[in-house]
Amino acid sequence: MSNQISLAEIIEEVHQLPCSHPASVNIDVAQYYYCIAKMLRPLLVVEIGCFIGFSTLHFAKALQELSFGRIISIDAFDHKVDTGRGMQNRQDVAEYYRKKAGLEDILTYIKGYSTVVYPEIKNQIKNKIDLLYIDGDHSVNGVFGDFNTYYNDVRVGGYVIIHDIYPEMCGVRGPRVLIDHLKAYRTVPNDIELIEMPTRDGFGIAVLHKKSDKNLNILLPEASRMKRIKNKLLGKMPFFPAKIRQRAKVALQLTVIDGDTESPVSGAKVICRQRYNETRTSNEKGLVVIENYLPNRYLFDISSEGYVPQSDVVIDISADKLLHQVTIALKKHCC
Ligand SMILES: C[S@@+](CC[C@H](N)C(=O)[O-])C[C@H]1O[C@@H](n2cnc3c(N)ncnc32)[C@H](O)[C@@H]1O
Repeated sequence: MSNQISLAEIIEEVHQLPCSHPASVNIDVAQYYYCIAKMLRPLLVVEIGCFIGFSTLHFAKALQELSFGRIISIDAFDHKVDTGRGMQNRQDVAEYYRKKAGLEDILTYIKGYSTVVYPEIKNQIKNKIDLLYIDGDHSVNGVFGDFNTYYNDVRVGGYVIIHDIYPEMCGVRGPRVLIDHLKAYRTVPNDIELIEMPTRDGFGIAVLHKKSDKNLNILLPEASRMKRIKNKLLGKMPFFPAKIRQRAKVALQLTVIDGDTESPVSGAKVICRQRYNETRTSNEKGLVVIENYLPNRYLFDISSEGYVPQSDVVIDISADKLLHQVTIALKKHCC
């Protein structure tokens, strides 16, 4: 046992594969999956869309530590990927790490299209899913199909996680359309509690809690509604403005000036810690423009040669306006 490679080491190995990201969720999200599985203590996790199994291994780590529960993970496995050892079949990669981690008893991979393979696994999952993870076909048809096929097998009190809910960031719109649809028809909050969460890459996840045993079959939006949804997503029709703004790209225009003369300070470094120390430099007008921020309170460190640095400057990039303009005045070092 002692010389056996740990699951944490295997996860790190998968994390480092050239093909891993961004096709796999980023590490923060994967670790959240580990935590949520550890807390929910599921007996059955069903995952739709595992790619090479990065998210899967995080669910598996929780179950391995809990010493109970199993995962059924479905993927079309239809393309080869670059593993750094040449192009390999995705399923072979996923299976390789499953075996290497000794997860044969916990984890089963199913090859095929999620809605097509359902009859194959139906008896194993019927009304038994404690945690359903949807990260497969992100088209509107694909997400509605997955939800309708698997949701009714989630037990009451169980959870569903949906990845890629912010189309402006991730470029796919199925999950967003589904969530808006559930809200528009009051399925949320009547039958499902739902919380949306931003992620490091901006793609976002939704966590759904099943509250009622009502069977759901969510019909695709009719053509006219679909058109309105599409326009809304394209930003052409600003109805529900507050909601849109919450998800819209917001911009921060930060101007750094000299506290005495009020003249612009160029070359100032603006570092944002929540964006993993992303560093921007002010231009000749003292200006730094940062876009794509999800609304949040952000912490900045601002410094420039000859000036006293300002640390821990909190700027609230709220959802109520799309452009935030902030001026930071730096004081000169006295001698
Ligand atoms: C974004 S990747 C999943 C990433 C994975 N959850 C992770 O974080 O490591 C999406 C996966 O869904 C699979 N997929 C797409 N459509 C599918 C379908 N209809 N049925 C099953 N798998 C599908 C693709 O093959 C791909 O591997």
